[in-house]
Amino acid sequence: MDTGIEKPEFWESAFSEKKEMWGFEPAKSAILTRDFFIEKTMKNILIPGIGYGRNAQIFIDTGMSVTGIEISSTAIDMARKHYGNSMTIFHGSVTDMPFDTCKYDGIFCYALIHLLNDGERKKLILDCYNQLTDGGYMVFTVISKEASTYGQGKFISKDRYEIFEGVNMFFYDRESITAEFSKAGLFEITEVTENYPFFLIKCKRSQ
Ligand SMILES: C[S@@+](CC[C@H](N)C(=O)[O-])C[C@H]1O[C@@H](n2cnc3c(N)ncnc32)[C@H](O)[C@@H]1O
Repeated sequence: MDTGIEKPEFWESAFSEKKEMWGFEPAKSAILTRDFFIEKTMKNILIPGIGYGRNAQIFIDTGMSVTGIEISSTAIDMARKHYGNSMTIFHGSVTDMPFDTCKYDGIFCYALIHLLNDGERKKLILDCYNQLTDGGYMVFTVISKEASTYGQGKFISKDRYEIFEGVNMFFYDRESITAEFSKAGLFEITEVTENYPFFLIKCKRSQ
């Protein structure tokens, strides 16, 4: 079956073996999003796919409260070790959202949605939109078709490849971003270079 989470143990063993594999510095996109959320006076943030928290602490440092969702219990243990109980983290797959009945005024989702299949991506966008307060913002970072890894690995479906065993990746361009996010308040797409070329996608829930 074409599912992005057919081998969730990939993340469990990746964190067990490689530990804090992206270091402790936040990604550029996290800094840009933190500044954007400050400008919009956001207070209550949800981070699906929070990993071990390297992109979460900068929101907490500015007085925002953070809730995460993470599929790997090893990553959650690492987040607890480094950041204590400063954030609530639900253990599970984003495909099972929502995990609570809270409404969040900001959602930041870094490098996760492109791991999911078509149906799962649609559901994640809708589930995130539904957990926003009226006037709230959600920001996604996604890998671009400009990445050198685009087209490598086993072909799964249009723009989707198995880049490692058990990890499928959907590579975005402006057209597929518009197709997937336009019903969820899409208002800005910018390019940002992390370890790969990414897009930063901003959506606003209507009031
Ligand atoms: C590429 S990593 C990004 C991690 C984190 N945002 C960071 O940059 O520090 C993707 C993260 O999403 C988690 N993840 C993958 N599939 C998931 C799913 N279906 N539900 C929840 N988390 C998932 C992984 O365990 C990993 O922590």
